Amino acid sequence: MAEISNDLKQAATLLREGKLVGIPTETVYGLAGNALDEKAILSIFEVKNRPKFDPLILHFSSLSEVTPYVKKIPNELQILIKKFTPGPITFLLEKTALVNDLITAGLSRVAIRIPAHELTLKLLQSLDFPVAAPSANPFGYVSPTTAKHVDDQLGENITYILDGGACSVGLESTIVGIENNQITIYRKGGITVEEIEAEVGEVNVFVTSSSKPSAPGMLHSHYAPKKNNLLFEFKDLKKLKFDAKKTGFISFTEKIDGIPSENQFQLSSNGNLKEAASNLFKALRLLDSTEIETLYLELVPEIGLGQAINDKLRRATNHPN
Ligand code: TXA
Ligand code: MG
Repeated sequence: MAEISNDLKQAATLLREGKLVGIPTETVYGLAGNALDEKAILSIFEVKNRPKFDPLILHFSSLSEVTPYVKKIPNELQILIKKFTPGPITFLLEKTALVNDLITAGLSRVAIRIPAHELTLKLLQSLDFPVAAPSANPFGYVSPTTAKHVDDQLGENITYILDGGACSVGLESTIVGIENNQITIYRKGGITVEEIEAEVGEVNVFVTSSSKPSAPGMLHSHYAPKKNNLLFEFKDLKKLKFDAKKTGFISFTEKIDGIPSENQFQLSSNGNLKEAASNLFKALRLLDSTEIETLYLELVPEIGLGQAINDKLRRATNHPN
């Protein structure tokens, strides 16, 4: 078990020593290490059991700190940075030699993010290096949205988790970059496609396939929990044949008759997508820890945050084995 508290000094000391620390952000908890310390970077991959072809995001407390690590920031992205940072968005920018190739998995661009979480911004301000921080879950599992989630899965391998409460957004950051002169979204997340398009006009949404992921973290099975997960629609509920004791449901708003309450979760009883997003990973974890064998997932409306939620739900139905 790791120690869980909100001692910024302790977190900073450990990071300076090259140790890893669980950190809160508005999206999900991260597994942070000193991005300028190769040993720390390597231990991130080790603790997460993450393949080295999957690059890491660098976290900063302000844009001015980013300057030495990137060649330039294209104008279109400057607009988005100004509007949405600090916030749940990550930018792919051409890296300088200061960024270790392990961080970018040998790619020419580095992922940059300024999280909107007061405690973590203070922590980052107190450091004279950026931290690399993937989501603090073992590779291939859902991201953690509380300190306890981190402890449950990585507590054996890290000594400290900075407790910043439950993540307010609950979905990872939206990843944005420029490809063929067009603003491109590589991962749908906490800032919606609509919000981005309202600032810069139509953007490209990169649809990845499991055979050729553009960003390795976009592998189809990346968010797969352990149950047999299937999508369902309410209109088909009567046609489904299931053993009520061995079946779970994650629905958007409505309860499922005949299913014990501990085996079902409504993401938002009043249909609020923001609330649904913040509950999604908690719900997946909760039902994954029960004895049920099959978990039915209902897609939410495909608008705003609903796009990112559905992306996760669809991925959760693809099993790695
Ligand atoms: O919200 C978030 O972004 C969280 C919090 C902790 O900040 N972090 C996070 O990191 O989700 P991670 O490592 O679980 O997912 C980041 C994904 C990687 O899987 C990879 O696909 C993509 O970002 N990525 C990182 N660097 C990249 C690069 N240079 N080029 C393309 N994709 C990159
Ligand atoms: Mg992740």
